[in-house]
Amino acid sequence: MNSVLVASNRGPVSFTVSDDGVLTMKRGGGGLVSGLSGVGKDLGVLWVCAALSDDDRSAVRQAPGGRLDHAGYDTGALRMLDIPAATFHRAYNAVANSTLWFVNHLLYDIPNTPSFGSRFQREWESYRDYNGAFALALAEEAAHEARVMVQDYHLTLTPAMLRAERPDLRIAHFSHTPWAPPEYFSLLPDEVAREVLEGILAADHAGFLTARWAQAFMDCCRALLGADVDGAARTVTHEGRTTRVGVHALGVDGEALRRRAGEPDVESHMSALREQVGDRRLIVRIDRTELSKNIVRGLLSYREFLAAHPEWHGRVVHLAFAYPSRHDLPEYREYTASVQRCAQEIEHEYATEDWDPLILNVDDDYPRSLAAYRLADVLLVNPIRDGMNLVAKEGPVLSPRAALVLSREAGAAAELGEHALLVNPYDVCGTADALHRALVMPDDERARRRELLAAAATALPPQRWLAEQLDALNYDLG
Ligand code: G6P
Repeated sequence: MNSVLVASNRGPVSFTVSDDGVLTMKRGGGGLVSGLSGVGKDLGVLWVCAALSDDDRSAVRQAPGGRLDHAGYDTGALRMLDIPAATFHRAYNAVANSTLWFVNHLLYDIPNTPSFGSRFQREWESYRDYNGAFALALAEEAAHEARVMVQDYHLTLTPAMLRAERPDLRIAHFSHTPWAPPEYFSLLPDEVAREVLEGILAADHAGFLTARWAQAFMDCCRALLGADVDGAARTVTHEGRTTRVGVHALGVDGEALRRRAGEPDVESHMSALREQVGDRRLIVRIDRTELSKNIVRGLLSYREFLAAHPEWHGRVVHLAFAYPSRHDLPEYREYTASVQRCAQEIEHEYATEDWDPLILNVDDDYPRSLAAYRLADVLLVNPIRDGMNLVAKEGPVLSPRAALVLSREAGAAAELGEHALLVNPYDVCGTADALHRALVMPDDERARRRELLAAAATALPPQRWLAEQLDALNYDLG
């Protein structure tokens, strides 16, 4: 039995099985994994996650009770759920990533999508089953009055399902995404919207990355459920229960990041990059190839910048990391193709024999991206909408001189906006102009802003972020 449990779709490790049947374990990425490293073991955390692939599933089948030994990663114990592949696919791809992600990032192409037919009803059933599998495992594993931290849009129904089984538990839900305003959230079928909101409201504490997303969630509760919302106290009362809404602005662990970025593999990538770009200025972006990251408009902005400022031809390079993500979804495959098309057009238009204006990296190469942060003169982060955006926080910690061009629609803008050059992510000319202002920014201003950005970025490192949420569940312990 465990007194602290974390539940998330993606866990801290994944597995690969080689042709000869040997199982290899790989550490997963992301803030949550680093947040739990170190504190996980001390607190006796049990992490419950889903098997994401057939290789994960075969690892689980070899492990008694789905409990996997991952000692060495220091994140406590792990239980991976072997959810049937078809159910997982419908819950993860069709509902979580194609519906809830799209709603909260305002990604629909409204004249055509969404369209909720009988197929969606089946997918929604699978999402319920998948959330139910998490609730069941958590109910089995949690000690009396244990604290359970349920993560993200994959698991919006789990708090209500778990509460029904185990009313003694203290449950938190945390959204790592933005939250849509009611007029957009209500694109969802009424009963689905209601189930999602009520699912989260069954938690004692509903956490968000910024005040803006917390407010949007409360607005949805008021507009769609008729819940009683106290905006100043950040509470939502619905059907006799009160849920506290909290804002926890996940930041980066500056020390750990600097240590990693100082390792020899990063240094050698730096030398290789320096050789490739010479003494030219570097505009860097680092993203998953994700619709909400707005990579195409970012490239179009660079193109506008080159058109408006011929004096920079031959003197600047745009290093764009756009590594693969969610390729099971056709929208992502198409988006990846349009990023590549746009990059080729810029190459054709501007490349000369001795100048490559754009380097597009499509491999997920973490040490190379750390090297890029360290060399950047400008960091471009222009999402349409983003829960937080950790690139905007990692960059200023690692780069000694980068100016940050930041979308006003990224959650990170709430903390960093004052020291960044803020842009409207749809305004390609405005973004091009900000790229230019970032390049010509005087050194002393650059240094001053970077220092302030780095301080804001490290204000709430993952370990403290986690501790804050655990504290938030202590209020009714008496
Ligand atoms: C977002 C979500 C995370 C998720 C990540 C990667 O940041 O908030 O929960 O882990 O995207 O998405 P993936 O579908 O690859 O797990």
